[in-house]
Amino acid sequence: MKVNGTPTRTIWLAEDGRTVEIIDQTRLPHRYETTRLASLDDACRAIKDMLVRGAPLIGATAAHGLALAMREDASDAGLATAYERLFATRPTAINLRWALDDLRTRLAPLPADQRAAAALARAEAICDEDVALNAAIGEHGLAVFRALWEHKGTPDRFNVLTHCNAGWLATVDWGTALAPIYKAHDAGIPVHVWVDETRPRNQGASLTAWELNQHGVPHTVIVDNAGGHFMQHGMVDVCIVGTDRTTATGDVCNKIGTYLKALAAKDNGVPFYVALPSPTIDWTVRDGVAEIPIEDRGPGEVQRLWGRLDSGETAWITVTPEGSPAANPAFDVTPARLVTGLVTERGVCDASAAGLAGLFPEHAAAAE
Ligand code: MRU
Repeated sequence: MKVNGTPTRTIWLAEDGRTVEIIDQTRLPHRYETTRLASLDDACRAIKDMLVRGAPLIGATAAHGLALAMREDASDAGLATAYERLFATRPTAINLRWALDDLRTRLAPLPADQRAAAALARAEAICDEDVALNAAIGEHGLAVFRALWEHKGTPDRFNVLTHCNAGWLATVDWGTALAPIYKAHDAGIPVHVWVDETRPRNQGASLTAWELNQHGVPHTVIVDNAGGHFMQHGMVDVCIVGTDRTTATGDVCNKIGTYLKALAAKDNGVPFYVALPSPTIDWTVRDGVAEIPIEDRGPGEVQRLWGRLDSGETAWITVTPEGSPAANPAFDVTPARLVTGLVTERGVCDASAAGLAGLFPEHAAAAE
């Protein structure tokens, strides 16, 4: 997508053909800054401190991190250490493990002196594949939106609610949940997006709103608790979110608060879709609530907020009284029964083992 009119991805190979550049997402929306990852340390820090975030982009950055690590130490021990260090950065998004497993499987049989080049080539391919997967999700999601919009009695506005940031900033390009929104907007469907602010880190208010602004998509930022109200008043035509890990049975793990939106959508008869590329499916997990590890990011993100002061300076402010503890689970699980459909690169399916196995028969055994 474009930043100030210039086509831009979230991660790209630097001119030296070796290091990679990323957008530092901790500075948005108030500052657009890029930074360079030149080592395994840099890649681990970028993921852990959320300079990059969003499941597909975490996977792509991990792939490049492993490629950078192979330039430092391409021995078997170096490969094992790099895998472990990158794997430990964040626990919930399965794309991290998917990308690391993919690279390790390809690199392990190679002689050490071939590993750096092979890793870089595969990391670049993973980035390109992510763009293609998300573009396909966009087309399938567009068909869903078009059908809902054409069925609607008042076609002058099509209201979509989304939570967190599942846009191009969360992927290499296009995004997952936002890809259909961009495609619908470009196709002339009068899309308006309700953007959940997404406390505590405000990925909706800071990142999704910034993206939509850049592309000129009409939107309104709302507090996380407003969605149910708008649904009750017929002001949400569809919800669509991304996911950090979807089980073989269709349970969806996504940013904290997604579950409550799905409950409100069910109560109000609003379709609730989840957009995901297949590397986000964990075919080894069947019960999302019981089995998916939920990241705990500590109390600081709840107690404090980052933003711009009237002076133009950016600053942290404290919102809780001293001495009040805070809890901060970063994700929750929406059971498959609350999900209307999964929008994947191969099409739309029921959020169920049968639905996923129908689209991905090569994984059917795991989904049974
Ligand atoms: O903690 P984050 O910002 O990495 O969480 C991101 C999300 O929850 C996204 O919705 C999810 O990764 C899907 S991204 C296409």
